[in-house]
Amino acid sequence: MNAKPQSQLKEQIKKLDSISTAPAILKPLLDMMRLPSDQIKVEKVVEMISFDGSIAAQCLRLANSPLYGRRETETVRAAVMALGIDRVRSMLLGLCLNRVIPQDKWVLDPIAFWRHSLGCALVTQRMAKKIEYPDLEKAYLAGLIHDLGFLANSVLYHDGFKECLRLATEQHAPLNVIEEQILGFSHCDTGQMLCEHWGLSKEFGESARCHHDVSLLPTAGPLACLVHLSDLLCRMQYLGYGYDEIMGVDLGRDVAWETLVITYPALAKMDLIRFTLDIDGAMPEITATVDSVFGAKQMAAVASS
Ligand SMILES: [Fe+2]
Ligand SMILES: [Fe+2]
Repeated sequence: MNAKPQSQLKEQIKKLDSISTAPAILKPLLDMMRLPSDQIKVEKVVEMISFDGSIAAQCLRLANSPLYGRRETETVRAAVMALGIDRVRSMLLGLCLNRVIPQDKWVLDPIAFWRHSLGCALVTQRMAKKIEYPDLEKAYLAGLIHDLGFLANSVLYHDGFKECLRLATEQHAPLNVIEEQILGFSHCDTGQMLCEHWGLSKEFGESARCHHDVSLLPTAGPLACLVHLSDLLCRMQYLGYGYDEIMGVDLGRDVAWETLVITYPALAKMDLIRFTLDIDGAMPEITATVDSVFGAKQMAAVASS
């Protein structure tokens, strides 16, 4: 199939607003994402979270999960104070995105999707820390939303995207490759457009755009490279999209890795095998957290609310 004109895709993305079942706090939250965290008042965040009982409950569960090392946070205010504005707003965005699409429109298994997204957020952040990337929260968020295009495709191109997943599963192939063949675009394109549509920082759009191929953008920055590598690592560690992919990956020879090593020489000293094992060890915690927050019971509760 021929590539879809970008203008046509952009028009479709706008339709998402009317189909979306996103909670009312998504819009003020997106406005808040554009501000530096020192300009945001704790009370404002608490008020926003408390507006939505389901989000407030999920926020507390996540704040109390072992992943964040907090076990006794009982109020939303305490959670915001303990975790900090940056972490809380990333967390909130994840929770809101979970409800962006109607439950019957999910194509991927939502739990697999959130395991992958949260896993990628954490791995991107860990890797960012290793190389002393200056904004760890930005790294976390970029990992969390890199596959936003899947949400758009699930709603706007439901049947076509479903067919892509069926073929990718059958062939054990990367989903983005099959999307290109069948739809003429991939979740990377729609992900970037959705980031733009929602007014998120340009860097997030860029990392969504080239997270499967950093050579797509001649100016791919470190964030895009980190997200690309984290996405690969997660998919290699069975935190993919819910089906087995056959992946021949040599991370040390990856373009993103080579690009990063030039900017951050500390990366060259990193033991990739050890790092992969590290992530492997963190997987039970990641999956337990995602299941407790985005798990089947919660998804059913959200669907009936
Ligand atoms: Fe992807
Ligand atoms: Fe991904």
